[in-house]
Amino acid sequence: MSAETWDIDGFPFAEHLLTRLQAVEAKGHGDLDKWRSALAGLPMVPNAQHQFTPMLKVSGDVSEALSVQLKEALLPMHPWRKGPFQLFDQFIDTEWRSDWKWERVLPHLSPLAGRKVLDVGCGNGYYMWRMAGEGATQVLGVDPMWLFRMQYRVLSHYFSEALTAEQSVEMLPLGVDDLPENTHYFDTVFSMGVLYHRRDPVAHIRQLLAQLRSGGELVLETLVIPEGGEPELWPEDRYAQMRNVHALPTVSRLLSWVEQAGGVAARCVDEADTTTEEQRQSPWMWFYSLPQYLDPKTPCLTVEGLPGPRRAVIVAKTN
Ligand SMILES: C[S@@+](CC[C@H](N)C(=O)[O-])C[C@H]1O[C@@H](n2cnc3c(N)ncnc32)[C@H](O)[C@@H]1O
Repeated sequence: MSAETWDIDGFPFAEHLLTRLQAVEAKGHGDLDKWRSALAGLPMVPNAQHQFTPMLKVSGDVSEALSVQLKEALLPMHPWRKGPFQLFDQFIDTEWRSDWKWERVLPHLSPLAGRKVLDVGCGNGYYMWRMAGEGATQVLGVDPMWLFRMQYRVLSHYFSEALTAEQSVEMLPLGVDDLPENTHYFDTVFSMGVLYHRRDPVAHIRQLLAQLRSGGELVLETLVIPEGGEPELWPEDRYAQMRNVHALPTVSRLLSWVEQAGGVAARCVDEADTTTEEQRQSPWMWFYSLPQYLDPKTPCLTVEGLPGPRRAVIVAKTN
């Protein structure tokens, strides 16, 4: 499969994106050739049927030989973190049950049908296809990891033919800082699992709000700590073995950050502990995962002795 093509003509700031993409492409990645030759091995399956909900699934007549070919194309893209997906007879049982998060988030959103959506930190684009399945017309995802762009291309290879003529879905290997500021373009902006990776959480929320049109909707999902103690935790070293975790707020502190950044009508619509059923090793992600990152004697704590992972979903609007 060839080098990248970018489906960005529909954006008024396409030129800006293209400049950033050229810089990222010039830098490249040492595994790109390996991943691209894996992509080239993806079988084409005529008359496939597609399902976006409750599970991303593509089905069709696949011989044993094609099934082996498919698996051989997918394995070089390990680790598969976000999913799961059913691709013909291959069940990609990813590290995360991302479908569980989507079930917690979706009921609280303004309907996505007809909306222009930005997904910041979109990973391999799992949620982008779920958004398209809800009828979003333009879905743009950004995530700087090339591997996730390659996994996205696997999904796009099978699911893009199920989009309507009005719909477009594109994932770009860019960071949120590569987007133009203040586009005020999108109807809904998602930032899920990104805020705690940012050194300045309020600045991140402000930059997300600046991508929304007036009256648009922000969906912010992040790690939180229990109320009743300090309102913020800034891990000195690792958190659940992750190196780049900065602020973990209480829900009330998080809501105040959203207001400080200019969001209105902010509300917490869901709070849930992350369980070792939701995040774990699998045949498609064989590195350590959450069970190895919790204190074996006190599993409500991380191995560093910090509060175990709990996530909140905040929905807010722009004026
Ligand atoms: C914990 S994952 C969350 C993925 C997905 N949104 C979800 O909720 O499952 C965080 C993602 O944010 C991405 N990320 C980190 N820094 C970013 C940045 N500056 N801009 C955009 N994405 C970023 C990472 O590559 C990673 O895929």
